[in-house]
Amino acid sequence: MAWLIVGYLSGSWLAALSVCRLAGVADPREDGSRNPGFSNVLRLYGPRLAVATLCLDALKGMPCLLLLKSLDAALWLQGAVGLAVLLGHSYPVWHRFKGGKAVASALGVLLVLVPWVALVSAALWSLIAWRGRSAAFASLISALAAPLLCLGLAPDYAPLVALFGLLVIGRHWLNIVRLRRGEEPPLGRD
Ligand code: G3P
Repeated sequence: MAWLIVGYLSGSWLAALSVCRLAGVADPREDGSRNPGFSNVLRLYGPRLAVATLCLDALKGMPCLLLLKSLDAALWLQGAVGLAVLLGHSYPVWHRFKGGKAVASALGVLLVLVPWVALVSAALWSLIAWRGRSAAFASLISALAAPLLCLGLAPDYAPLVALFGLLVIGRHWLNIVRLRRGEEPPLGRD
C-alpha cells in the first residue's frame, strides 16, 4: 500500500504548474486547451517551458519504479505503482482531482518498465505530431500502439500497458470529440 501511495503522490505533482510559476507566466489551466501538460505549455509559452514540463512529468514516477525494479518486485506491483503514478497525474489530490492527460507521465513509467516500447511509442508520437497532426491524435495512436508493441517486445507487460493506454485514451475524450468534428488544432498552434 505504501508503494501505491508514494506512486500516486509523486504522480500528483503537476510539473506544468511549477514550471510556469517559476517562469513567471500564467497557469496553463487558464488558457489554450487548459490542460496542465507539455502540449498546452508548448502552445502557450513555447518549447523551452514545454520541454521542461515534459521531462519533469516523465521523471516524476521514475525513482519509485526504479527502486521497485532494483528490488525485483513482482510485475503486478510494478504495474500497480505505474498506474498509481498515472492516476496521480490525472486525478491529483492537491488540485481537486483535476489533472492532466497522463501522456508524459506514461512515457516515464514505460521508460522504466518497458524501455523499447517507450522509445518506439515516443518516436511514433513525434512522427505523427511532426507530420502536422494534433498532439492528442499522436497521443491516442501511441496509446493504442504501445500495448501492441508490447505483445512483440515484452508480452508479460502487455495487459498492464493496455490498462495505461485505456486511461490515457479516457483522459482524451474531449480531444476525441474535437477530432471527430475536425476542430482539434495541430501541435503548437491554435
Ligand atoms: O499531452 C496531452 C495531449 O495529448 C493533448 O493535449 O493540450 O492538446 O489537449 P492538449
